[in-house]
Amino acid sequence: MNYTLLAIESSCDETSAAVLANGKIQSNTIATQTVHHKYGGVVPELASRAHQQHIIPVVTQALAEANITKNQLDAVAFTRGPGLLGALLVGASFAKSLALGLNIPIIAVNHMQAHILAHFIDDPKPSFPFLCLTVSGGHTQIVRVDDYLKMEIIGETQDDAVGEAFDKTAKLLNLPYPGGPLIDKYAQAGNPKAFVFPQVDMPGLSYSFSGIKTAFLYFLRDQTAKDAAFVDNNLSDICASIQYTLVKILLKKLIKAAKETGIRDIAIAGGVSANSELRKQIMLEGADRNWRVYIPKFEYCTDNAAMIAMAAYYKAMAGEFSSQDISPMPRMDF
Ligand code: KG4
Ligand code: ZN
Repeated sequence: MNYTLLAIESSCDETSAAVLANGKIQSNTIATQTVHHKYGGVVPELASRAHQQHIIPVVTQALAEANITKNQLDAVAFTRGPGLLGALLVGASFAKSLALGLNIPIIAVNHMQAHILAHFIDDPKPSFPFLCLTVSGGHTQIVRVDDYLKMEIIGETQDDAVGEAFDKTAKLLNLPYPGGPLIDKYAQAGNPKAFVFPQVDMPGLSYSFSGIKTAFLYFLRDQTAKDAAFVDNNLSDICASIQYTLVKILLKKLIKAAKETGIRDIAIAGGVSANSELRKQIMLEGADRNWRVYIPKFEYCTDNAAMIAMAAYYKAMAGEFSSQDISPMPRMDF
């Protein structure tokens, strides 16, 4: 089937629109909200307002770049959840209104499922079944993917997400939000073994990241009590060490999951999959263990509508359209 789709992503702090036609992404426009930076985190009401401001220009640009008009669309897709309610409402309302006006169907997409399906935008594509470590600001999951729309979470965090651990440790170092990419940047020049942080042993395939955040807080308190310039003088080593520890924790359970399931096609997805240490370590582990490793392009790691369009394409193929009375779900499982 040759569907022409417009997809909208508005779950957090990126307003994004993408067009898919002939089974391929034709455009992917993203407006990143910088308004939150001075508050050290995403402010939900400001996010909703910024989505409201950005959505029409972003959609207009996505259609123009794909060289199509809205009358050529067969369906409009949007992120139903998980995410911030006020932010999701902007995308959902826009998608519904546009589809109603054009008399075409809507497709509701799960944001976490879409992060995983971003692997089908370009080659090489993973083959089923594969495991996907999905790591973002709100989630840390090991997902067993049996088909495009058939996935199961086999392990996840019991408290903070790993992206949150990156952002919170960055905040303790007085780095601006979002701190994950900055930790990555400073870590490039640092020694990952300079400082050792604890790795909590969790049962099964579960993760926990709240302990390491507290351990890091006490570590900084103790070190700066001895030397007030400790952070300034050791920033690269501190970033490299915390990043090394977080990546080790992620990989330990992923290796366990691969062993237990016997699956050797291994993917990573979500904002933290942009992390250079995670990308490097998973390649090294993969070479050692004979895995086929799939790492998304940088542009498809963090939030984007291309992944929503890709997920919507598979839902359209399966005839999974939604009715106009559907509403966003801030918490949403597969
Ligand atoms: O998937 P995403 O864009 O949004 C959510 O769905 O949450 O992920 C955002 C998260 C933030 O916590 C951000 O700090 C983290 O991804 N992140 C990184 C890197 N790039 C983004 N964390 C570590 N290293 C990076 N290079
Ligand atoms: Zn995301």
